[in-house]
Amino acid sequence: MQVPLLDLKTQYAALKHEIMPRLEAVLDSQVLIGGPEVERFEKECAAYCGTKDAIAISSGTDAILCALMAMDVKAGDEVILPSFTFFATAGCVHRLGAKPVFVDIEPETFNMNPEAIEAKITAKTKAVMPVHLFGQMADMDPILDLADKYGIQVLEDACQSLGSTQRGVKAGALGLCGAFSFFPSKNLGGAGDGGLLSTNNPAFADRVRLLRNHGAKQRYFHDEVGANFRLDSLQCAYLSVKLKHLESWHAARRVNAAIYHEILDGCPGIVMPKVLPINTSIHNQFTLRVKDGKRDALLKHLTDNQIGSAIYYPLCLHLQECFAFLGGREGDLPESEKASKEVLSIPIYPELAEAQVRFVGETIRAFF
Ligand SMILES: Cc1ncc(COP(=O)(O)O)c(C=O)c1O
Repeated sequence: MQVPLLDLKTQYAALKHEIMPRLEAVLDSQVLIGGPEVERFEKECAAYCGTKDAIAISSGTDAILCALMAMDVKAGDEVILPSFTFFATAGCVHRLGAKPVFVDIEPETFNMNPEAIEAKITAKTKAVMPVHLFGQMADMDPILDLADKYGIQVLEDACQSLGSTQRGVKAGALGLCGAFSFFPSKNLGGAGDGGLLSTNNPAFADRVRLLRNHGAKQRYFHDEVGANFRLDSLQCAYLSVKLKHLESWHAARRVNAAIYHEILDGCPGIVMPKVLPINTSIHNQFTLRVKDGKRDALLKHLTDNQIGSAIYYPLCLHLQECFAFLGGREGDLPESEKASKEVLSIPIYPELAEAQVRFVGETIRAFF
């Protein structure tokens, strides 16, 4: 039995009849940039996230970059963020001339450890960027409290967690803003790159809209330097169709996760992912820890059995070549470094057949 890590074709085949008329309508209208499909999708996203506003952006990376620009993060500023995350979280900070200041993660959730933040706050700290990794939100209350205490802005990197909740509040609704990604492999995957910023702050939303369009309210008259951070109308139409199905896909992901727990809980050699009682996870990834240095051997065992898996992420950001100038060393962030050596993500996408999920679980069990 083959079980790929992801199967985008099956989802597309089921939705093609809904998607095509919407795309055709956009093409017929030739309103390709901005217009009603973008506005509609933004309203749908704001309603879904429970925020006052949502702004469609060209990618998750651009959503982070644009948010940081709208937060006035500039050369010399510092932004506190986890090291165990996708590169964009820190790359965007550096691109603005600011310094990414890395903190360690909590071993149970892989998310930023709030207790590690305060010691890293300096007079230069402009923002903190918790990342809601693998579909589950970082522990936000202590982060928001610290931000309040020190007058720091909070940008949620929710690129992997659209729809996840903490105490009933959706990701992207707690900080000043939340950045989301519609990269095709995400829980809400676009037909290419795409992203979003959610916010409850109308002035911030206005600034983001301005920056998204080269800082111009009126064409060819620029209030400030922005960029082209727009998301195409075709993308918005495509994503709007898919958004209606997102909750049912989350439910299917949870069923798959429950089957993995049924088969693998207590399996020696593995630590199963944990969802905090305050959280719901949308299981964008299902990430095991493989103990005793056996991660790569398990990956090979899965590959030999035609099962896809992936390592998110094999090298922490504080140890990346491009950030060597920041002076990060092995041993600085022990939990992040340990995670990068132990993690393995296995198939969790909603279209998996139960037999496939069971096959993956049994194949892992058989390895130990
Ligand atoms: C945590 C995190 N941040 C940022 C991004 C960047 O999103 P995009 O690939 O849409 O630019 C991603 C997507 O891979 C991500 O997982």
